[in-house]
Amino acid sequence: MFEEIENYAKENFIPIIRPNSREILIAEVKKLSPSKILEIGSAIGYSGLCMLFASSASLVTIEKDEERVTMARQNFERYNVSKRVQLITDDALKVLTNLAEEEAKFDFVFLDGPKGQYHKYLPLISKLLVKGGTLVADNVSVMGLVDSTEPIAHKHRTMVVNMRKFLSEVTSSSQFESRILKIEDGILIAKRK
Ligand SMILES: C[S@@+](CC[C@H](N)C(=O)[O-])C[C@H]1O[C@@H](n2cnc3c(N)ncnc32)[C@H](O)[C@@H]1O
Repeated sequence: MFEEIENYAKENFIPIIRPNSREILIAEVKKLSPSKILEIGSAIGYSGLCMLFASSASLVTIEKDEERVTMARQNFERYNVSKRVQLITDDALKVLTNLAEEEAKFDFVFLDGPKGQYHKYLPLISKLLVKGGTLVADNVSVMGLVDSTEPIAHKHRTMVVNMRKFLSEVTSSSQFESRILKIEDGILIAKRK
């Protein structure tokens, strides 16, 4: 549906959600029919648009890269959904901390920001997500490295260790009922109990 954005992302090496993962995300949004969605990692607005077109929800989306924010804003305008979107340009940890202090609540969270930071976001997301709400997190396999028994190259080690910590915390948490789908770069779907 947003083919031009897909092509732009491909040509400009902007990472956006992959096709099968996107379909899972859309199916989860449709299943829950949320009214407030939080997204960490807007990039140029592609996954945000997919979620907006799959629901009648409003979207708060966080992105620290100003150039990408400009493009995301243009894309939301182009598809006439700007009124439903609050685009925040800042570091996600800072924004999530502020939202939690304000006691903001969301019924759907799409986590697609920096992979080495998911474990830091989890306690904040737990506060922000209402009971019965859904968390979807992308790239939890980190290029297959999370399940690898081989030594991890130094440049990926912290990210992989942190992602393992995140996954272990969500899957063992009494607050979440979760499953990991091993498709593409791995998707976690967790329901807040
Ligand atoms: C995988 S991309 C998001 C793709 C987007 N969700 C989509 O599928 O269309 C991850 C984004 O997170 C952003 N990002 C990285 N670190 C961040 C941080 N600390 N705070 C906010 N955004 C961050 C990157 O600039 C990048 O655009």
